[in-house]
Amino acid sequence: NVESRLYQSNDKSPLQIFVRAKKKINDIYGEIEEYVHETTTFINALHTEAEIVDKAERELFESYVYKVAAIREVLQRDHMKVAFFGRTSNGKSSVINAMLREKILPSGIGHTTNCFCQVEGSNGGEAYLMTEGSEEKLNVVNIKQLANALCQEKLCESSLVRIFWPRERCSLLRDDVVFVDSPGVDVSANLDDWIDNHCLNADVFVLVLNAESTMTRAEKQFFHTVSQKLSKPNIFILNNRWDASANEPECQESVKSQHTERCIDFLTKELKVSNEKEAAERVFFVSARETLQARIEEAKGNPPHMGAIAEGFQIRYFEFQDFERKFEECISQSAVKTKFQQHSSRGKSVSGDMKSMLDNIFERITIFRNLKQDQKNLLTERIQGTETQMMQVTREMKMKIHNMVEEVEEKVSKALNE
Ligand code: GTP
Ligand code: MG
Repeated sequence: NVESRLYQSNDKSPLQIFVRAKKKINDIYGEIEEYVHETTTFINALHTEAEIVDKAERELFESYVYKVAAIREVLQRDHMKVAFFGRTSNGKSSVINAMLREKILPSGIGHTTNCFCQVEGSNGGEAYLMTEGSEEKLNVVNIKQLANALCQEKLCESSLVRIFWPRERCSLLRDDVVFVDSPGVDVSANLDDWIDNHCLNADVFVLVLNAESTMTRAEKQFFHTVSQKLSKPNIFILNNRWDASANEPECQESVKSQHTERCIDFLTKELKVSNEKEAAERVFFVSARETLQARIEEAKGNPPHMGAIAEGFQIRYFEFQDFERKFEECISQSAVKTKFQQHSSRGKSVSGDMKSMLDNIFERITIFRNLKQDQKNLLTERIQGTETQMMQVTREMKMKIHNMVEEVEEKVSKALNE
């Protein structure tokens, strides 16, 4: 039941924009590859048999074959990437788990995530880890094992652990979304390295704040650097732990509007990455822990509110879903642009180059054919001339023979008479 619901929501998901675009561009490149191979055979024949194509040209064409193959490989691996940042314990790992509908990443009080963790879909139902610089697959059966494995590996905070989780367990993984979890921005001095190593190809950034306090200098500084290195990054802001506000209903609205105003100002006036309207649609008040609990209950067939932590669950749950919807729209559109626009223009340029090369060869073939035709015509003319000559000769021969026969006959009858 849950599985079929996942499929249904998946079909309507804005992520399908990316999924369909990826399929389409892969199909197109598949056709280009077929065409390129067919043409290679043709070009090689022109080189060996007729010498219309020289070695350099043949090699140039081969370089197109490699280019197309390289683009195809990148295309097959292309995905949508979202990276989460924020201060320690704000709930970054919890937000990712809530989106994945399962407790995959270790979360807890204190400093939990100690290096970059990337969660991506795996095929064949396998779950495993891979650490940076190693090809070894470390099997993980459950979350406890995963947490232990992450602790045991003596990892530097800016290194990356890749967690492969079965695609079929989560629609976001199935649709090629890759999640990057980070240690708190307050625990590192190497923020520049973080950005260079893990963020340059992210399609969306999520800043996870603690709604119980306010945005810190470290969080602001990190995103200032991100927006200096990337032009107009897509940033969402989650005011997490909003369930805590239920304890103080009298000041809930005023706190909410204060946070909202600060977040919008940060995106528009400080970072200058969005306009007012867009920024207003990028700020949310959620409870990751509650959403995860609700989803775990749902998976068991229970009503989601069984996961509620405090009063006002339904509003926070809707807000989390609203965030996911806007996030999906944003990430799929951004990824189509950043990943495929470049490939389609490279594809166009490669096919343009191939076309002009083939046009050129075609021209040479036409000249060659005309030349052959001329030779043929000349030959035909000669043959025709010879034919007339032959007729003449034959006619003359016939006359001669006739005359000879007559002469012989005359001589013979004369001799006989005598
Ligand atoms: P580090 O990895 O240490 O940087 O922390 P993190 O940002 O990944 O936070 P994590 O998800 O580990 O959450 C920290 C603690 O806060 C955990 O005990 C969570 O259960 C709890 N928590 C996370 N989100 C919420 C929330 O929305 N409400 C409440 N009440 N607790 C939350
Ligand atoms: Mg964490």
